[in-house]
Amino acid sequence: MRAPFLYRKSIPFFYEKSPVEFQKDRYERYDPMVIRQTALHLADDLWKQYPLQPVLDFAQPYLPAAPRTIVELGCSVGRWIATLAQKYPTADCWGLDFSYQLLKQAQDFWVDKKEIQLDTSRLGFAGIKSIPGQKLDNLNFGLAKAADLPFADNSQDLVVHSFLLDRVANPATALREHFRVLSSGGMLIFLTPLNFQEAGLWSTYFPPIKIHQLMTHLGFTVLDWLEDLEITEPLDARGNAVVWRTIGVVAQKQTN
Ligand SMILES: C[S@@+](CC[C@H](N)C(=O)[O-])C[C@H]1O[C@@H](n2cnc3c(N)ncnc32)[C@H](O)[C@@H]1O
Repeated sequence: MRAPFLYRKSIPFFYEKSPVEFQKDRYERYDPMVIRQTALHLADDLWKQYPLQPVLDFAQPYLPAAPRTIVELGCSVGRWIATLAQKYPTADCWGLDFSYQLLKQAQDFWVDKKEIQLDTSRLGFAGIKSIPGQKLDNLNFGLAKAADLPFADNSQDLVVHSFLLDRVANPATALREHFRVLSSGGMLIFLTPLNFQEAGLWSTYFPPIKIHQLMTHLGFTVLDWLEDLEITEPLDARGNAVVWRTIGVVAQKQTN
């Protein structure tokens, strides 16, 4: 694994994020982005159930029997990779993201077992919510770009991400990088709404079959492909919500 440039509060930075990049990144704003992500991923009882459970359910049938190495990209506050770290206690698990504030929340909660005091009044709920942290010894968090991973070639048995591919600058470069780090037989599982922010990305990657073609071109064997998986992201106590129409993809790196 590549050595980090620096550590901040014991979180390794595998990318030297500039002050301008920090300033531009809305996920570096504690209020409201970190609060929203924390509420969405760690405060299930606000919503009666974990809102992104459909992501985990989609992946479930394809999870390898005994992966040695697992990485989640764009892991936010770490819910999916923590679930995998719990399922596979002997696997070496990494959650990587581009936002330090989200990673800090993830590290505090899943590694350092700190209780989170979440002010839910911004979302219309009653006041501060305490969520007790956990300690997962096989889980690490680090700052990296999804298209420039700190891992060696063929080193990861499982790569997952959700709501990420339409947020990276170049999805093709990112997918090529995921292929590079996957081991032979390794699995890539991801969901994305393909809600691109730039016209150029829409013309290159829409309709979704273009992503399928790209993956085949990169060498992936696509094992499952869904185009209409609806995932509801709750917004507040009032019941407002966004419905995302995602594609769900399961692909394998099959070599020789
Ligand atoms: C829409 S959020 C999704 C978070 C979480 N995976 C989920 O499903 O709710 C996008 C996440 O990807 C991260 N991100 C954005 N661009 C990234 C990049 N190039 N590399 C790694 N993470 C990135 C953001 O910091 C944020 O945590």
